[in-house]
This record gives sequence, C-alpha cells and structure tokens, in this order.
Amino acid sequence: MEKTFYIKTLGCQMNVHDSEKIAGILEGQGYRAAAEQDGADLVVINTCSIREKADQKFFSELGKICRTKAEKPDLQVAVAGCIAQQQGRRIRSRFPQVDLVFGPQNIPRLPDLLRNARGRPVATDENPDFHLETVPTRRREVFRAWVSIMYGCDNFCSYCIVPHTRGRERSRPVVDIISEITGLASNGCIEVTLLGQNVNSYGKGLMDGAAFPELLEKVAQIERLKRIRFVTSHPKDLSPELIGSYQRLAKLCSHIHLPLQSGSDRILERMNRRYTVNQYREKVGWLRAARPDIAITTDIIVGFPGETQADFDRTMALVREVGYDGIFAFKYSKRPHTQAVRFDDHVSEEEKAIRLDEVLSVQEDIGEIRNQALVGSKQSVLVEGHVPNETGWLSGRTSGNKIVHFEAPEDVIGNLVSVQITEGYRFSLKGNLIS
Ligand code: SAH
Ligand code: SF4
Ligand code: F3S
Repeated sequence: MEKTFYIKTLGCQMNVHDSEKIAGILEGQGYRAAAEQDGADLVVINTCSIREKADQKFFSELGKICRTKAEKPDLQVAVAGCIAQQQGRRIRSRFPQVDLVFGPQNIPRLPDLLRNARGRPVATDENPDFHLETVPTRRREVFRAWVSIMYGCDNFCSYCIVPHTRGRERSRPVVDIISEITGLASNGCIEVTLLGQNVNSYGKGLMDGAAFPELLEKVAQIERLKRIRFVTSHPKDLSPELIGSYQRLAKLCSHIHLPLQSGSDRILERMNRRYTVNQYREKVGWLRAARPDIAITTDIIVGFPGETQADFDRTMALVREVGYDGIFAFKYSKRPHTQAVRFDDHVSEEEKAIRLDEVLSVQEDIGEIRNQALVGSKQSVLVEGHVPNETGWLSGRTSGNKIVHFEAPEDVIGNLVSVQITEGYRFSLKGNLIS
C-alpha cells in the first residue's frame, strides 16, 4: 500500500516554499499527501529558529510526535528546516526516535536519505552547489506561486540566526528563474512572489551580471503573468534603479516590505544594519514619488540590547512619520552564534513587552486610518478563496497586499477582479464586486 506523508511547516515563506519542494520529492518517491497528521506514515516538521519561542514551539511539538511513535512504531519522523540545520546532532541525541534530520541545503538529497533512513541520517552539510531548481515542487495553488531567486544571506545583522542556518548568499541564474516562471504562467499562474532574504542584492557573483531590476524587467515580459511581488528587501541595498522599477513596471505590485528594525541610528549601528534613519526616510520618499499609492510594511525589533527609552521613542516617531500599512514587531530574542548575545545592557522582558504593546497599538490606529483612506477607491483584487464561516464571502488581495472581503460567486477564485472598497478596518478591507 502506498505510504502517506504530512508536513508541518513553521517559519517564513522560504520554509513554506521548501515544504512545497519536500512534498514534490515525496510524491516522486511514491508517497501521497495525507489530509492530517494523525494516521500519516511519515511526518516532516519543517522548523524555524528565528526567535527562541519558535525553538520552544518545535521542541514541544516534537515531544508530542515522539510520544505518538511509542504507540505506532512504524511512524517515520523527519525534522527539516533551520533548527535541523543548526541543532541536528542535538535533536538526534535528545530524541533518538527521530528517523532523519536534514537542513534546507540538503533537500535534494531527500530520496537518498529516505532510502537510508534505518541508519538515522543527519544531513546538515554546507552545500553551496546544491540545485533546488531541479527538485519537483508541489504547489498548493495554480494562480499564484513563490519562486526562489536566491538562497542564504551574507548580511550578518547582529541579532539574526539566518546566515547561520541558510548559509552564504547564492543567486539563481536568470535563465533558470525565467524558465520556471514561464512554465508557471503557461499553467495559469498570474502572480509570482520572488523570494530571497535580501532580493535587492540579487545577482552578486552571477556570471551573467544581471541585477535585481533587470530580473524584474525580464519577469514582467512574461505575457500571461499579471502580478509580481518580492520579499524581502534590505533598505541598504534598495537602489534608485529598483525604485525606478515601480515607475516602469505596471505588473510590479504597489507594495514593499522594507524592514526598519529600529528608528535609532545608534541601535541600527549595533544591529549592523548599515543604513541610517535619514537614508531610510529618503528612500521612503523616493518610493512614494515613484508610486504614490505604494503600501509600505515593515519589521521592528523592540528591546534590542542597549535600547533606551529615548531610542525606542525614536522608533515610535518614525513609525508615526512613515505611516506604515502594516508592522510585524518582535521582542528581541537572543540567538546562538549571533554577535548580539555578547552585548551587555539587555532590556528586561517586562520592558520589551511594554514597548511591543505600544508599537502594535499605535500601528493599529495608523493601519485603520490608512485602510479607511481607501474607501471609495476601485482596487484590482486577486481572489484567493472563501472567508471561513461566511457563506458567499470571498477573500483576496489588492495590489498593495491588503486583504479584502466581498460577496461573489466562487468561480472568480483564482482570477483578478475589480472591487469597490466600502469599509476600512485595522487589518482588512470590505468591498463590492464590480466586475
Ligand atoms: N531577511 C529579512 C528578515 C528575515 S527574519 C530581512 O532582512 O528583512 C524576519 C524578521 O525577524 C526580521 O526582520 C527581524 O525583525 C526579526 N528577527 C530576526 N532575528 C530576531 C531576533 N533575534 N529577535 C527578534 N526578532 C528577530
Ligand atoms: Fe537576517 Fe539581516 Fe540577513 Fe535579514 S538581512 S536574514 S535580518 S541577517
Ligand atoms: Fe525561520 Fe529559517 Fe525562515 S529561521 S524565519 S524559517 S529562514
């Protein structure tokens, strides 16, 4: 009988996309996707270690699964992703029941690892030449897709574990990316999101010498493709050419995620971000000049070591000044191997919680004002699916990446439609279908 698998994905879009590759490989090996974890023959946990909480969540999850294994000895358990990469041996020694452990750079080796699973392999080699692009991918949807354009990160922000889990920055050749997206588009894909930890340094080290704006230009020429997004761009590398792409390319969506992290130059320097508040502010101005309706979202870390009340106040001032469309804010969390663990002046957990609440509550009001300003406008919306528990209501995203709810027949799912916005809330919009 054919075996079934279930993948539990934690973490960012890279992991979600890696899970699509893991699923593609498993199907190629004769496995079938199970609808739920209970009863699956193989459970893969694709892990994230960006903050300590993510770590804890995984270890408690793994504990649960290993207890199930006591009653069901045939169950296979695999651990993938960023914790696997960093703590492969530790996972193995704490949880000897785990059958296999493999990091993001070893996904293409999965068929081999499965064959040798009895030997309980741990595959966390640095694998700079690996070719994920040759891996079959099982995408969830036809109408939109994630496409990796680069792997790894060389920035070494002082708080961040990613360069230690994903390895050095490597860009995929333009021809590979274009051929993947052309294939997707001819199968009905209308929106792609180009993925990388720092997409605007794309091209470094490539023989063809292409830079990110040129890649965007080529992607935009793919006829049946209607929308292009990308995540994430580092403010220090956001070039005038890329800002110009917002002027030139109608297919480029009116959204940019531009992580600020802190509004204090002193803290930005300690974070090794390599831009100043003024440089950031200037780039926001250029973006808005190039694309007046652009939605800007950001990431903020509160309570970085040494962050005083005055530093935090500067962050709050910038949050108010920019007027973000959305913020992901996090309490600073110590990560192994990063520079910041060795910094002194750690901020107390209580203080971090107070600062986090303040950013989030101020942003709720700003977000609501920004969304209400869209009332009356006509938005192009890519329809994603049903609103849970609301019969007849569908949900989609505007070019600015805002969620819109509206009543419509379900056959518009997967299409671009026009919606007139009637209400703006803190985190979403409501509207009427026009066409
Ligand atoms: N490459 C992306 C970020 C990926 S991590 C970029 O540079 O924009 C996503 C976000 O997690 C980061 O922007 C940062 O705000 C947050 N983050 C990373 N490490 C963290 C840590 N140690 N503690 C708290 N938040 C962290
Ligand atoms: Fe982490 Fe900085 Fe790289 Fe983003 S750019 S992944 S925050 S090191
Ligand atoms: Fe987490 Fe790894 Fe992404 S640490 S945020 S899954 S790159």
